[in-house]
Amino acid sequence: MNSPALASLYAQHLDALHARTAVALQRGGFEHLLIPSGTLLYQVFDDRDYPYAVNPQFKAWLPVTRAPGSWLVITPGQRPKLLFMQPHDYWHVVPEAPSGYWVEHFDIIVIRTPDEALQHLPKDTARCAILGEAQSAIGSYVPNNPQPVLDYLDYQRAFKTAYEIEMMRQAQRIGVRAHRAAERAFRAGSSEFGIHLAYCQAAGQDANDLPYGNIIALNEHGAVLHYTDRDRVPPNQARSFLIDAGASFGGYACDITRTYSAQEDEFAAMIRAVDAAQLKMCASVRAGFDYKQLHLDAHLALAGVLKDFGVIMVSAETAVETGVSSAFFPHGIGHGIGLQVHDVGGFAASDSGGTIDKPEGHPYLRLTRVLQPGMVVTIEPGLYFIDMLLGEIKQKGLGDSVDWARVETFKPYGGIRIEDEVACTDGEALNLTREAFAA
Ligand code: GLY
Ligand code: MN
Ligand code: MN
Repeated sequence: MNSPALASLYAQHLDALHARTAVALQRGGFEHLLIPSGTLLYQVFDDRDYPYAVNPQFKAWLPVTRAPGSWLVITPGQRPKLLFMQPHDYWHVVPEAPSGYWVEHFDIIVIRTPDEALQHLPKDTARCAILGEAQSAIGSYVPNNPQPVLDYLDYQRAFKTAYEIEMMRQAQRIGVRAHRAAERAFRAGSSEFGIHLAYCQAAGQDANDLPYGNIIALNEHGAVLHYTDRDRVPPNQARSFLIDAGASFGGYACDITRTYSAQEDEFAAMIRAVDAAQLKMCASVRAGFDYKQLHLDAHLALAGVLKDFGVIMVSAETAVETGVSSAFFPHGIGHGIGLQVHDVGGFAASDSGGTIDKPEGHPYLRLTRVLQPGMVVTIEPGLYFIDMLLGEIKQKGLGDSVDWARVETFKPYGGIRIEDEVACTDGEALNLTREAFAA
């Protein structure tokens, strides 16, 4: 998208944030919203800092992710103010002077030390909702994170503006480019570490830029849901490759998973079956559809795949009822995504609080809301061959449900996960990931 178009979407995005902020402040009885960008955190007994992560409430307003010590001041009816921290420093790179389509919407004051912000913040701290971490406090400006304000903003954050959808599209493009490079590296015989480097190179992002640590798993490692070890040496024979890796763009995340078989074999066929099931699940992302139901339906669909491949000997329905399907699909179908890879407000019952519980027996689901236009969710079904969970099936006396010889056939491949980002619209689902792969 060209920048004039992005600029006009951004203006609408700001309008939406201003409108939300006015309500949020009113709910909490405040006049101003203050958002520190965050500060550096140091390792204990050391002068080494941890990777800086900007306050998500800050990057909701502007695509600036590397300006620790800055503050936003939002007062309804007034132009927002950015206190932009640009220290006098010759040891480190100083954040660049603000530029881009967003700058004209802010009164920008450059500060050189953290305490300089004090001169420019609203005088009456009691009238300020301050959203941030405790260590961002300066003087009497201590983050108070008022619950009614957070409840409102977190709930509304699920509904992406057109600008946010476009930012997420850009993140998808980067992620897809890097996924393609990673697949090439796998087929060329690289180690997990080598694939990771190929991914980062193609994305133009290093580990601290990425929205989460890359999961790059060959063979049995695919059965570890969050495998992040990255062997330095390739296996003797690379049979399969599961990659769960994202990218960032202007503070927005993508979260994409693909699984490959090295050869045209039964595992390749199983990947295609999961892929076909996943596409159907993506099509269920429609306004009014309960995401909890999507998760439960996914169990049935995946149990159907296990049945078709002779891994289970009971019906798909029975496998779901007895919990056998959970041994093969032991995580949630997905989550909201946007400024954070696991976005806030996943269980919010309303914009004034309350929780929508997870379905019984499904502790790892991260989103329980009913889908509405503007929500962007991941759809990430998986099937894995995990010794610990398979052992539990036997312990529960359900061993007869499974053909253990078939399990042995598939175990050397680890597992399958396929993950896309899907936007809920007024009509059909919009699959941002497939769109990027198709481009
Ligand atoms: N990459 C983490 C997740 O899929 O939720
Ligand atoms: Mn995910
Ligand atoms: Mn993922």
